[in-house]
Amino acid sequence: MKRSAKERIGLSGKDGPPKALVENLGEFVDREVLLEGWLYNSRSSGKIAFLLLRDGSGTVQCVTAKADVGEEIFAVARQATQESSIRITGMVKKDDRAPGGYEIMVSNVEIVQIAEEYPITPKSHGTSFLMDHRHLWLRSARPHAILRIRSTVIHGLRDFFADRGFTNIDAPIFTPAACEGTSTLFETDYFDSKAYLTQSGQLYMEAAALAFGRVYSFGPTFRAEKSKTRRHLTEFWMLEPEMAWADLDDAMALAESMIVAVIDRVLDTHMQDLETLERDLSKLERIQKPFPRITYDEALAILEKKGKTIEWGEDFGGEDETVLAEEFDRPVFIHRWPKEAKAFYMDPDPEDKRLVLGVDMLAPEGYGEIIGGGQRTASLEYLDSQIEAHGLPAEAFEWYRDLRKYGSVPHAGFGIGLERFVGWICGTHHVREAIPFPRTMNRLYP
Ligand code: 4AD
Ligand code: MG
Repeated sequence: MKRSAKERIGLSGKDGPPKALVENLGEFVDREVLLEGWLYNSRSSGKIAFLLLRDGSGTVQCVTAKADVGEEIFAVARQATQESSIRITGMVKKDDRAPGGYEIMVSNVEIVQIAEEYPITPKSHGTSFLMDHRHLWLRSARPHAILRIRSTVIHGLRDFFADRGFTNIDAPIFTPAACEGTSTLFETDYFDSKAYLTQSGQLYMEAAALAFGRVYSFGPTFRAEKSKTRRHLTEFWMLEPEMAWADLDDAMALAESMIVAVIDRVLDTHMQDLETLERDLSKLERIQKPFPRITYDEALAILEKKGKTIEWGEDFGGEDETVLAEEFDRPVFIHRWPKEAKAFYMDPDPEDKRLVLGVDMLAPEGYGEIIGGGQRTASLEYLDSQIEAHGLPAEAFEWYRDLRKYGSVPHAGFGIGLERFVGWICGTHHVREAIPFPRTMNRLYP
């Protein structure tokens, strides 16, 4: 059955009532509308059927009374199974007791396809079962709320950088070399040679920063992580700003403003979704500037005091990050790391050559490191020494060395892992819930 284009975009068509979305029902009170969606749930008696219609923008109860619609349409309404695709025509009624504030008094029900027995029922299922059915699970309330928030976080991040004069320059996915250590590289055949899936767009953003001043990339990044923790994906999205003529403090100030701006936006626009997720709002509302800034050495002292001894020079494990973050009610920056714990491109600390000007931001509530970044070395000589010390193939970095030969400047930036950020905002147990189709060490399906 073809409908006019006019009708599809929600304007009133000549041949029927206007098409509405559940989220816009308020504009149609006491008018007849057409709703197109899927049957989320239903219950019925001999005289009345309550159809809960889901259309992607929300759900609404559609009340179908046999006395109003007649035998035939009532029988159609009762035939619809969970997730059958349906078109419902009816009158929009304001009803303060209804979940979204509105109800539909049905005049017609049309079934487009009767769904087979749906595997995801209102009873509870294990996460592994749900993840195997991720293509269907997306329709359920919880993933729906999380992924709508993810969409807003992406818009919020992009707007934040656009408003501050950053140019969006995307980085390639196929790369000739490692950026974040050779142990997590995904290698692939590339005609007669090898290529690696990008671990980070940073090196390319450094090139772009020297061309455009302030830039950011946003795209998928890949790590062959052999860890099965709740914070690790093999494919995740990273947003990476980079600024020419900037230092470590500038990077921290930018990161802090970004986090606050995006959380404010989610709090302004997603109350209902956060409620669906039963998120403790007070924990998000207290995310205000300034965030505490501590050095690696200070972090070690805190851990020591809490009975966790870490040898100087070592990176923190997930558990250490959780313990550290517990000390603070908002994200905390840890800066000035031992050189051996960080990547080859970091600028040494002029005050202490054992340290580099790198920074991590740890989220509260056990969400761990959500941002990594810092000040990059501007010195060709130092860069060369580090490429060698890290055993990296010098040929692959010729172009990157050029950035230090032609107008080198102090520059800094960071990368924020989108799924860890969204997972924290939504309060998910595992980052895999914060991406539509997660990829982990043991999941490549669906
Ligand atoms: O700390 P990382 O490795 O930093 C970089 O890649 C820098 N080159 C970024 C830059 O300065 N432009 O990764 C940055 C962030 C982490 O803080 C974390 O949020 C996320 O990326 N991340 C992961 N998220 C999910 N799964 C993984 N396996 C992740 N690895 C890193
Ligand atoms: Mg890191």
